[in-house]
Amino acid sequence: MSNIAILCSGGDVSGMNPALKHFVEYSLQKGMTPYFVNDGYEGLIDNNIKEATYKDVSGIINRGGTKIGSARSQRFMQKEYRDIAKKSLDMLNIDMLVVLGGDGSFRGMDIFYKEHGVKFCGIPSTIDNDISGTEYCLGVDTALNIIKTSIDAIRDTAASFKRAFVIETMGRDCGFLAVVSALTSGAELCLIPEKEYDLKCYENSFKEQIKNGRRYFIAIVAEGIKDDSETIAQWFEEKIGIESRVSTLGHIQRGGNPSVYDRLMAYRFVTYAIDGLLSGKTESVICYTKSDFLYKSIDEVANTPFKLDSELISFLDESQCIS
Ligand code: F6P
Repeated sequence: MSNIAILCSGGDVSGMNPALKHFVEYSLQKGMTPYFVNDGYEGLIDNNIKEATYKDVSGIINRGGTKIGSARSQRFMQKEYRDIAKKSLDMLNIDMLVVLGGDGSFRGMDIFYKEHGVKFCGIPSTIDNDISGTEYCLGVDTALNIIKTSIDAIRDTAASFKRAFVIETMGRDCGFLAVVSALTSGAELCLIPEKEYDLKCYENSFKEQIKNGRRYFIAIVAEGIKDDSETIAQWFEEKIGIESRVSTLGHIQRGGNPSVYDRLMAYRFVTYAIDGLLSGKTESVICYTKSDFLYKSIDEVANTPFKLDSELISFLDESQCIS
């Protein structure tokens, strides 16, 4: 049977280790030999590829980051290095790759497929949640939960001191982390790159709120906005008249114990990626889309017995080898 490899490319996310675990277990179950490519495309070029066993993935499901390392490879953008990468795969008879990464990583893989015919399936993995075509990227839920915990902690000190806190979230040019965090933390202000803003609009309201007893402000700003966070803090001091501080959450957003949701999504993404490759999909990205909110009749909701998701039950059968 085939040999199949997995690699992580770009910013790591919590959820990659659970994905690696399921990759090894599911590939073995399907009769394939799984391989780990260490340090992203760099490992393909440097032939840093190792066969993976159950032992390699035991005890990693609860760990953030990625056991096999990640990298943003410049060399893989050049054909001469992609040719070397192909030789590394040939030496081990690997003709299928699962790639955990972002759209840049998938574009690289697409060129590689066109040049050398190595089949691949991409799994969208970035805390930024900015990949077109999928509603969810692996790692986002864990990152949002870390941001939530951080904002809750900052709120305690903001209220104690009567201060405005400008909390900067990651996301590159995307405001997803900021907007979801603002909505779920009750922030007074949220600034994202996708929405024009004029700080003047908030001045009267914020000053009025202080007069009426407000002790603190929480402002969530995405790293990609036109102003830097210090400028927003200065605006709070000068125009609103409240002492302010900046808290840049930084890379803590990328780490930590993977949430239940990310562990489950890792399981689902990997299952679909491998199934897709085995069913002949040669160059794809496994995307997640869910249905919208729906209005249903009382009859349908109240008089129909609840049914546990059949896919979940089938996963259980698979993982416990029940046929
Ligand atoms: O793409 C993920 C991300 O964490 C962005 O949110 C952030 O802008 C960037 O990576 C940081 O990159 P690095 O880890 O190279 O500093």
